[in-house]
Amino acid sequence: MTRFLRPGNGDDPAGDYAHLQLTTLAGWRGFIAEIPAVPDLLPEAIWAGLHDDKRACYDDDRIDHHGRLLVVQTPTIRQVITAGRRLIQLNKHAHYGRCGLMVSGPARTGKTTALTQLGKTIEVIHRRRHPRATADIPVIYITVPPAATPKMIAMEFARFFDLPISRRGNITDIADAVCGVSLDAHVSLVAIDELHNLNTSTRAGAEASDTLKYFSERIPATFVYAGISLERTGLLSGARGEQIAGRFSMVRTGAFGQDQQWTALIAALEDSLRLHRHRPGTLTRLDRYLHQRTHGMIGSLLWLIRSVAINAVLDGTEKITRRGLDAVDADITSQTPRPPAT
Ligand SMILES: Nc1ncnc2c1ncn2[C@@H]1O[C@H](COP(=O)(O)OP(=O)(O)O)[C@@H](O)[C@H]1O
Ligand SMILES: [Mg+2]
Repeated sequence: MTRFLRPGNGDDPAGDYAHLQLTTLAGWRGFIAEIPAVPDLLPEAIWAGLHDDKRACYDDDRIDHHGRLLVVQTPTIRQVITAGRRLIQLNKHAHYGRCGLMVSGPARTGKTTALTQLGKTIEVIHRRRHPRATADIPVIYITVPPAATPKMIAMEFARFFDLPISRRGNITDIADAVCGVSLDAHVSLVAIDELHNLNTSTRAGAEASDTLKYFSERIPATFVYAGISLERTGLLSGARGEQIAGRFSMVRTGAFGQDQQWTALIAALEDSLRLHRHRPGTLTRLDRYLHQRTHGMIGSLLWLIRSVAINAVLDGTEKITRRGLDAVDADITSQTPRPPAT
């Protein structure tokens, strides 16, 4: 689990959610400062003797932990981080024609997780190399809003930096301000998520895509895009698309097969459980069942295991069983349509 580092230890309920807003510099920095903090299981005797209020706190911590679990180093994450780091290195000395990366696949297959983990990796490396450059902003993370126009794209950049720009400002001024700050702050990675919101079959969408291209030429950084089935959005077709496609590597995300990687993922999740009566190996032995229920979708698997683990703390059973899994509402997971073969 990663817990948000903040003073005051969560008395402010809004503070609990502040770190979810990754598309602002403050939120992004909060995410970078998160440290893994998995609660320890108390020895049986101490646990049994806890007073009610202490027990409530202890359980609360574990509920919080099970609501997140951990980021598992899946093949997708490894691929995205390796490709991203390689491109940043190759682009460092390129004055034009920099290459980029696209992470494309169905919904809930771990694209955002991989993109943000890449961002975190790059930021940590930058901070280690330049410990005194505290004002640097090595990574930008923004999302493309639905039906994005050029101005909306520029505003997303400005919003990340918290630039004081009025909505009536013209796009050239916004773009100049954004590029200026990016240069001064030594931005080296620009991560752009939800790229499928760019509808290049509309004029505004095509222009928004040109705006991104313009930014990628002016900001000397590596651009990494993530979105649903990007090859089908029209972004990579036509003359404009071919220009983009020629310079981008692609990492495709999808469902897990029912294989050793799937079992390893389950094992990592099972290992992170903090339940008093859970018998290790129960979950990995249910790998086939879990694959059938989730169609191998990592998002569905996480949702199912998080739910059942929270239930196990709430109802005091303190373990995950096949029956417990069956009992979890058949909502998100079973309604997830089988993903197209990738
Ligand atoms: N490597 C991972 N380890 C743990 N959980 C993951 C991992 N990848 C994805 N998830 C979980 O799966 C869900 C969907 O992931 P997300 O990155 O939002 O997918 P996408 O952006 O493709 O829709 C999230 O709840 C996320 O926490
Ligand atoms: Mg996403």
